[in-house]
Amino acid sequence: PRPIWLTRHGESIFNQQGLLGGDADLSPHGEAYARNLAAFIRGRARELGEASGMPGEPAWIPDDVVVWTSSLRRTMQTSRPLTQRSISWRALDEIDAGVCEGMTYDEIRLKMPHVFEARSADKFRYRYPRGESYEDVIQRLDPLIIELERQRSPMLVIAHQAVLRALYAYLMDKPPHTCPSLPIPLHTVIELIPTAYGCEERRFQLGP
Ligand code: F6P
Repeated sequence: PRPIWLTRHGESIFNQQGLLGGDADLSPHGEAYARNLAAFIRGRARELGEASGMPGEPAWIPDDVVVWTSSLRRTMQTSRPLTQRSISWRALDEIDAGVCEGMTYDEIRLKMPHVFEARSADKFRYRYPRGESYEDVIQRLDPLIIELERQRSPMLVIAHQAVLRALYAYLMDKPPHTCPSLPIPLHTVIELIPTAYGCEERRFQLGP
C-alpha cells in the first residue's frame, strides 16, 4: 500500500498576521519547514519503500514520490527543497473567502458581523460573498480525487487548511459536513496508508 502524505504549506507572512487567503510568501519559519519536509519525505519514503518491498528491492524509492501543490506561492515555495517531480493544481487552491480575503477573523466580526454570524451558524454550507463554501470546495476537488485514486505512486499533497480538511474527510470516510472543524495544523505531515478497512493514520509534527 502506498502512502499519501498531506501537509499544509509552511507558515506564510499572512499566517503570521492572522490574515485570510491571499498569495503571500513563506515566512522564515515556513522556509525552515519546507527544508524539514524535504528531508522527512526522503527518509520516510525510503523506510516505507523498503518495508513494503523485498530485501534489496524496495517497493518504491524516494524519487518515485509525486508532489502535488496548489497554484499559490506558499505551497510551491514549500515544495522547492523537494527534488521529486511536482505538479500544481488550481483545484487545490485555498477556499476563496471572497470579500473577506486579506482580513482577520476579528475584522470580519467587527466590520461584517452578518458574515461572521452566518458562517458560524453553518460553516459547511456558508458561501462567502463572491467566494466559496466548504461545499463548493468539495465539489471542485472531485476530479482531483479521481486522479489521486488513480495514482500508483506515493503522493505528497501540499495544500491549505480548508482544502485538506475536505480531502482528509474524504480519505478517512468522515461525514463531509464535519470537515470544517477538523484539525489540520501547520508544520505537520499527516500520513495516510490505505488498508483493507480504510486508512491507517500517523501524524508527524516537524517544527519549527
Ligand atoms: O487562515 C488560513 C486559512 O487557510 C485561510 O486562508 C482560510 O480562509 C482559512 O484558513 C480556512 O479555515 P476556516 O474555514 O476555519 O476559516
